[in-house]
Amino acid sequence: MRNEDTFTAGSTGTEDPISPHQEAERQWRRVLGRRSFLKGVGLAGAAAIPGSALLSGSAFASGGTLTQGDVAILRFLAAVELIESDLWQQYNELGGVNGGNSAYMAALSNLDGDMPQYIADNTDDELSHAAFLNAYLRSKGARAVHLDRFRTLPSSKATGAKQIGRLTNLQSLDVDTSWYVRYRSTNNPDLGATFRQAVNIRREPGIPLNDTDTPPNLPAPVPPVGAQETRMQAIANTAGFHFAYIEQGGSSLYSIMALKASNLEVLRIIVSIGGVETNHFSLWHDKAGNAVAQPLAGVTDPETGVTFPDLNARGGQLNQTNLILPEPCQFLDPGLPRCSIVRPTLDELGGAVATIASFTADRLFEGQSPRFFKVINELAAEADAAARSR
Ligand SMILES: [Fe+2]
Ligand SMILES: [Fe+2]
Repeated sequence: MRNEDTFTAGSTGTEDPISPHQEAERQWRRVLGRRSFLKGVGLAGAAAIPGSALLSGSAFASGGTLTQGDVAILRFLAAVELIESDLWQQYNELGGVNGGNSAYMAALSNLDGDMPQYIADNTDDELSHAAFLNAYLRSKGARAVHLDRFRTLPSSKATGAKQIGRLTNLQSLDVDTSWYVRYRSTNNPDLGATFRQAVNIRREPGIPLNDTDTPPNLPAPVPPVGAQETRMQAIANTAGFHFAYIEQGGSSLYSIMALKASNLEVLRIIVSIGGVETNHFSLWHDKAGNAVAQPLAGVTDPETGVTFPDLNARGGQLNQTNLILPEPCQFLDPGLPRCSIVRPTLDELGGAVATIASFTADRLFEGQSPRFFKVINELAAEADAAARSR
């Protein structure tokens, strides 16, 4: 099964397996190489290159036409929205307002009584994003994105989950929680700052796995009492942090893609959807904080040992759970006044390739085929290579 975690080197036909990280690196080098090629193509240079060889630097947008870069951006965003839709549907089946697992819903509701409603609404939003982007691509004569052939990962066996193939795996997540510190800090990753994890979430499910592990009729007292109740609460807490992780990624990704769009209508689509990703992040940021504040704080999963400490007890701005709005931070130049912003907005930190690398590190694609990684990383590299043309 370990072979499924590796890649074969795409078009060369060689069989050397490389890691997801190496694949991301490879794609990133491709982006950089392609960028410097495009930069080097001035007017004189362009005349020397056959028309078919000119990529996104050639057919600049005018009126309703899209550049190849615009199409690449929209196709990658469509893919990401299909991925988001897939993971949100799994959360929604079990924990949404019409969800099928009452113990999971009860544990989620300990973060906020409206969690099931918010989960259902976030799911609807992602489905709408994916459907719109693909329909728009088609309306412009461009190819829509389909990932159905990669819906091969198993569903949860817990009551409420449909038994269908999935694109994403929520059953053993490594959730990057550095966003929690990053958005409380006055430092900016685009200017080199790095951030520790707020909570160490390793190999923890975001959804219940089966009814033996966590029966669907468990009560959800606060704080939890009993091993199964505690595990279910740890799973729900993980979901809370995972929701915010996913949506902060979307906030950066859309901001970064906006800087690459050439056609004004494409820019309108990107900023209009991107604003909603940020809206989602803000909501989940608030809810995740309740997992690490009293009276719920202190849950430790008896299976994995993952702990949700009382962050307020640590003191300081980088921990305080109700500081959910972005702290003003350095922006562009440390000499300028601090500014409350989405961050990061550099390609290498939050662009398309970086987003897929982060999702891979999240173990969101655990079990996916080498072909899946090849397809998604190629879409990502194309999107990152797009450049605003006027
Ligand atoms: Fe979305
Ligand atoms: Fe989203």
